Amino acid sequence: MIIGLCYDLRDDYLKMGYTEEETAEFDRISTVEAIEKELVDMGFETRRIGHVKSLTEKLVSGERWDMVFNICEGLHGSGREAQVPALLDAYRIPYVFSGPLVMVITLDKALAKLVIKDAGINTPQHLVIYDLNDLERNHLDYPLFAKPLAEGTGKGITPQSVINGKTQLKLVCKELLEKYKQPVLVETFLSGREFTAGIVGTGDDAKCVGVMEIILNHKAEQQVYSYTNKEECEERVKYILAPEEDTRKCAQLALQVWKAINAEDGGRVDIRYDENNIPHFLEINPLAGLHPEHSDLPILARLNGIEYPQLMKMIMESALKKLNHR
Ligand SMILES: Nc1ncnc2c1ncn2[C@@H]1O[C@H](COP(=O)(O)OP(=O)(O)OP(=O)(O)O)[C@@H](O)[C@H]1O
Ligand SMILES: [Mg+2]
Repeated sequence: MIIGLCYDLRDDYLKMGYTEEETAEFDRISTVEAIEKELVDMGFETRRIGHVKSLTEKLVSGERWDMVFNICEGLHGSGREAQVPALLDAYRIPYVFSGPLVMVITLDKALAKLVIKDAGINTPQHLVIYDLNDLERNHLDYPLFAKPLAEGTGKGITPQSVINGKTQLKLVCKELLEKYKQPVLVETFLSGREFTAGIVGTGDDAKCVGVMEIILNHKAEQQVYSYTNKEECEERVKYILAPEEDTRKCAQLALQVWKAINAEDGGRVDIRYDENNIPHFLEINPLAGLHPEHSDLPILARLNGIEYPQLMKMIMESALKKLNHR
C-alpha cells in the first residue's frame, strides 16, 4: 500500500520569505522523517508530496496514492486546513485525519464553540469582534481573554491577553485585528488549571490516550500558555500526567467534544478549569503536532505509557478502518 505524505515544511516557507511567526505552526523535517519511519516500519511504501501546491501539481500530472497522511495546516484563507482533504476528496483519495468540514469548523474557534455549546458541553461565554464597534455589544464580565479567532501555537497570546477592563480590551482587540487580519475571539477568563487531552480513533472507537497538565514555572509568562511559553517550553513549562481524578474529568469532556465535532483518527482537546475546578472546552486540534519529542500529543501519550510507534499504529488503524466504511 502506497501512502503519500502531505506536510508544510517550515524551512520551505522560510525560504519563500515568510517570517518565523507566520511559519510557527509548520513542521520540521524531523517530524516528517519520524512519521515516514513509522509508516515504513508498519510495512507501507511512502512517497513525499509536501504542501498543497505540490499536491496539486502531482495530482494534475497523474500521480496517485492509496492513502495520504496529511498534516498540512495551510497558510491562506479560512479554509487553509481544509484545502488538502478537500482536494483529496475531489480525487477520491482516502486520507488520515479529519475531512474539510471538521477542519473549517475547528479552525474558527467560535464556530467550534457553537457546536460544543449545542452538545451541552461547558465552554466560556464569548463574543466575536470583527471591528472595534462590536465592543459596544460586550456584556461579558471581566476578567476576559482575547485571542485571534483562527490561529494556533499560541500565536497572538501573551500576558496582555488576560483583560481586566474596557480600555485594555479595546487596545488588545485593536492590536490583534491589525496584526492578524482576522476577527478576535473574546471569552470569559478561566482562572483554573490547564490540561490537554490526546484522542485517537473516530466516533465510538475514539479513546483518550492521556491527559497532561500544563504547569508554568517561575521563568514563564504567568497565567497563560502563551506563544513565548510554547516556543521556550523546555525552560518554562513542566508537563505532567494529570492526577487520576482530573484525567477522568478531562478525558470525559475531550471524548464528548471529539464525537460532537466528528473529528477523525487523532488529535487533541485543550481544557481549562474555572475557579470551581469545572473543566471547560478551549479548543480542539484535529491536526495535532506529531514531532516525537516536542509535540504535546506524543508527549502525553508517552507519559501514559504509549510510545510513538504505538501511537502512530493506533492512528493508522483508525484511518484504515474508515477505508472499509467508505
Ligand atoms: N478563555 C480562556 N481563559 C483562560 N485562558 C485561556 C482562555 N483561552 C485561551 N487561554 C490560554 O491561551 C492558551 C492558548 O489558547 P488556545 O488553545 O485557544 O490557542 P492556540 O494558539 O490555538 O493553541 P495550540 O498551540 O494548542 O494550537 C491556552 O492554552 C490558555 O493558556
Ligand atoms: Mg491550544
